[in-house]
Amino acid sequence: MSNHRPLRFARFATPAVALVAAALLAGCGKQSNVDPELTATLIQPVARVEIQAVTIAPGSRTGEQIVKAICGACHDSGAVGAPKTGDAGQWGPRLALGFEALTASVIAGKGAMPPRGGGSDLTDTEVARAVAYLANLAGANYTEPPVEQ
Ligand code: HEC
Repeated sequence: MSNHRPLRFARFATPAVALVAAALLAGCGKQSNVDPELTATLIQPVARVEIQAVTIAPGSRTGEQIVKAICGACHDSGAVGAPKTGDAGQWGPRLALGFEALTASVIAGKGAMPPRGGGSDLTDTEVARAVAYLANLAGANYTEPPVEQ
């Protein structure tokens, strides 16, 4: 009975930590007076994946990079009611909405999902890439918009 509390906390703690780390990193990119290397070293244990994502210029991140750095924080575990990565059963009714509608949902935010899935510096095209990558893991066959080199 009373041991329900720690379990619930553990379920929400991981995405929360990842989001805070992502938010910190997003802030770092904009503030030139903060030493990014020192910050990266300090938060490295919780934010290794996010560090990799922010070193790539905004606009040119692939769906896979974005999903691993940002979207997976909720979708990999199904936290806060997110349809689970790769779970065709949970994604089926969502995929029926179509690629455009799903992308619009993520850009605007839906339910417990914040706008752009919490990746506030993602471009619309990057969101579309992440949606394609995530949906394809659950059986969709969307074409991920290519990254211009
Ligand atoms: C904070 C947790 C969280 C993060 C981070 C997150 N999502 Fe979600 N996502 C959710 C939840 C919860 C839902 C279900 C929303 C609902 O239907 O109420 C959802 C739903 C979706 C849907 C279905 C939308 C629809 O119209 O049914 C897509 C597509 C999606 N997420 C993609 C993404 C992508 C791409 C990212 C990363 C850029 C992302 N999510 C990041 C929590 C999250």
